[in-house]
Formats: sequence, structure tokens, C-alpha cells
Amino acid sequence: MEIGMKFREPASFAVAVADGRLAGASGRYEKRLRDLDGLYGDALAFDTVLQRDADKLVYEVSDFRPSESGGDLIFGVTRMEPGRIGQEFFLTRGHIHARADRPEIYYGESGRGVMLMESLAGETRTIEIVPRSICYVPPYWIHRSVNVGEEPLVMTFCYPSDAGQDYEIIARSGGMRHRVVSDGAAGWTLAENGAYKPRGADEIAAIMG
Ligand SMILES: [Fe+2]
Repeated sequence: MEIGMKFREPASFAVAVADGRLAGASGRYEKRLRDLDGLYGDALAFDTVLQRDADKLVYEVSDFRPSESGGDLIFGVTRMEPGRIGQEFFLTRGHIHARADRPEIYYGESGRGVMLMESLAGETRTIEIVPRSICYVPPYWIHRSVNVGEEPLVMTFCYPSDAGQDYEIIARSGGMRHRVVSDGAAGWTLAENGAYKPRGADEIAAIMG
């Protein structure tokens, strides 16, 4: 192994909270409403909003990936607009890490969010994300973030470089077991997803390795 392969320059990256971006990011992607078909419980409400506002930016991610090596870290910033489809708050697509034993942390920069997590056995956990709090997503939890506030939700995140993402796990079970919906006042609550299909023992065993 050459020293040059292992040795990288230290660096600093500004979190542009108002823009919801990482300055000096090496990558960026965004999701608009038209990219999010099938995520929300209320398909009729989704179609109505889609017809008027298909290009609406819902969330964006900018990150820095120093290398692919297992002990390295990917970090970045995500920004999600406030809003709802019917009663359900805007959310990210969600995933489990392709290497499912890899964890992640999220740090609240601005806004008010919920990290919705689900174990392979179908248990739900929620962690509220507010500025200057760290949410720890342990290994083996499916996770997605939800903006339950009235302002953009901006978070900094960090996870191992070799974690990867499996986005299909949520689609295979008909969505996550719970949806984060308005409580009719200024808050949020969980609603059962009627289309949810529990994972079988074989699928769980394959993921647990
Ligand atoms: Fe993740």
C-alpha cells in the first residue's frame, strides 16, 4: 500500500444552514414531487398536488465522499421543504444500509423533524430532531426523515463510506409500518399503514447475515 493512497489532507467544510447545503460538497442530488410517486398514503392527494406542482423541490442532499474505504466517512447536509400530502408530512424515500450493520448520525441544524425508524421485525421508533441535537440511527434500522415543522428541515449527517443504501426494502413491505401525519393541531402523530406487509424470517435472516 502506497502512503499516498492512505494519506489525505485534513479539510473543513462550512454548513450553509440557510441554503441547506454543504460548502465544498463533491456530490448533490435532489428529489422533486414527480420523483416521489408511491411514497405517500393518500394517492389521490398526491395526484392532485402533482398536477399543479410536479417540479416542486421536496428535498436535496449535498455530500462529501473522501473515499470508498470501509473505515472512512461520508458526510453532508440535507434540506427538506415543509409540506404535506393530505395529512402526511413530507418525507424522504428512506432506506436500510446495504451493509445493514452500518449506523448513521443526523444533527439538527434548523427546523423540526422526526427520524422514523423501523426494525426488521416491524417495530417503530421515532426520534424528534431539533437544532443542536444528534439522532443516532443504530445498525439494522430502516430510516427516513420527516419534516413535521413549518420551516425547512436542515440536518447534517455522517455514516461509514461503505454503508450503501437499499431503497427497495421499504417498497417490498408496502411502505413503512407507520406514517407520520398531522395530529389536527400543530403537532404530529403516527398512523398505521394498512398496506404494510411484515417481512418474513428468510428476508430478515438474509439482511442480518
Ligand atoms: Fe442512511
